[in-house]
Amino acid sequence: MSKDKTMDEIISFAKSKGFVFQGSEIYGGMAGVYDYGPRGVELLNNIKSSWWRATVQLKPDYYGLDSAMFKDPRVWEASGHTGSFSDPMAECKDCNTRLRVDKALEKVDVEADEKMSEEEINKLFSEHKSKIKCTKCGGSNFSEVKAFNLLVQSNLGDFTGKGDNPVYLPGEACQGIYLNFKNIVDSMHPKIPFGVAQINKAFRNEISPRNFLFRTREFEQADTQYFVRPNENKDAYERIKHERWDWYVNDLGINPENLRWSQHGNLVFYAQDAWDIEYNYPTYGFDEVEGVHDRGDYDLTQHSKCSGVDLSYVDQESKEKFVPWVLETSAGLGRIFLAVLSDAYDIDMLDGKERRVLRLAKDLAPVRVAILPLLKNKPELVEKAKEVFNTLNKLMVCEYADTGTVGKRYRKQDEIGTPNCITIDFDTLEDNTVTLRDRDTGEQNRVRVEELASVLA
Ligand code: GAP
Repeated sequence: MSKDKTMDEIISFAKSKGFVFQGSEIYGGMAGVYDYGPRGVELLNNIKSSWWRATVQLKPDYYGLDSAMFKDPRVWEASGHTGSFSDPMAECKDCNTRLRVDKALEKVDVEADEKMSEEEINKLFSEHKSKIKCTKCGGSNFSEVKAFNLLVQSNLGDFTGKGDNPVYLPGEACQGIYLNFKNIVDSMHPKIPFGVAQINKAFRNEISPRNFLFRTREFEQADTQYFVRPNENKDAYERIKHERWDWYVNDLGINPENLRWSQHGNLVFYAQDAWDIEYNYPTYGFDEVEGVHDRGDYDLTQHSKCSGVDLSYVDQESKEKFVPWVLETSAGLGRIFLAVLSDAYDIDMLDGKERRVLRLAKDLAPVRVAILPLLKNKPELVEKAKEVFNTLNKLMVCEYADTGTVGKRYRKQDEIGTPNCITIDFDTLEDNTVTLRDRDTGEQNRVRVEELASVLA
């Protein structure tokens, strides 16, 4: 593994190879917004498929969902987002640059508790603000601290233009699951405990989006909510924590040395326990990829109260009625993508030459196998290569690559993480065998064309 892998290197690699682009780049770029390019969307979709397979399809007690992004505005009142989903902000009076106060205090070793009132955080900030410098002008002339709400407002149905009763874009994916709890119970009749999973977009008016895909204003969350009987949370919580860790290591192929658990010191008022899986990002260091939260009965109770609809569960055998407790897993797909890309990125030596290689797990690679005719001006080689391509492309994602020397084509495929290359040469025309090359070792073997599908599978 390259020792000096930096995030700048990963960012420029991601752009140059078609993985990730800055949002609205030709207009100067939008902060905290990114687009996934041709290679990136394949990798992202493969990560999502892996998550969906492990979380929904392989688990009989989990149900999938895809809820609408627009939700009744009362949802965000019930969830507490309109009231308290905010960051404490101050503005530099000299250059108007905004500052996230809790993060600025952290940098001077002062901890601001999430539960602090605006008055308390203002007091703490004024005691320490002489040590804090504006990131733009370097001054310390700051305004009072104000709570800045993170919800992004839409103008859906706002025919008066006054912004009354705004409809928000989702601040988190999990609310769609609570809203459909009753629908899933009534339609699928699940036995408790059971889980509901969905991948959904979330939007946050982050004041200081930063660190590439790590803190963005638009992102996707892969969420599960597992509903258990009251007080039957502990064992399930431990099991879920293990399963989540195993997915990163076994399914995504992330080096476990780059992962760790971190328990929340300050819990939000309704949470009973909360742990994060952190990844050791190049340059940034360890930071949260996924949260595993023990949320008690807060969410279903709140939505019962605010909607007037009883969200209790009735056990069909014992006729017991109760509000289930919720165990949540919530992972940002951008952060997973960045962890996968960073972990796979490597510079090594092969055949005495330095090369750049993405050691992606086979199921995640944007291209599973590249088909290379030895020469593109020999019709018989081209015809055979196209025949192999057309057969394999029905089974897995293939790329036809015929430009440049075979060596250069191998290196290009190594860079985007293609696990195998197949070369069609003159021997192929004689004996129907091809060269199958392995990305990681560079090893080459002759394989019969009719055996390729099973060898690659
Ligand atoms: N429903 C719980 C919830 O949303 P969270 O800790 O705010 O909890 C869960 O978010 C996950 O979503 C985080 O672990 C992170 O991976 C991702 N996430 C949160 N804010 C993000 C942002 N601004 N940009 C990218 N990902 C973010």
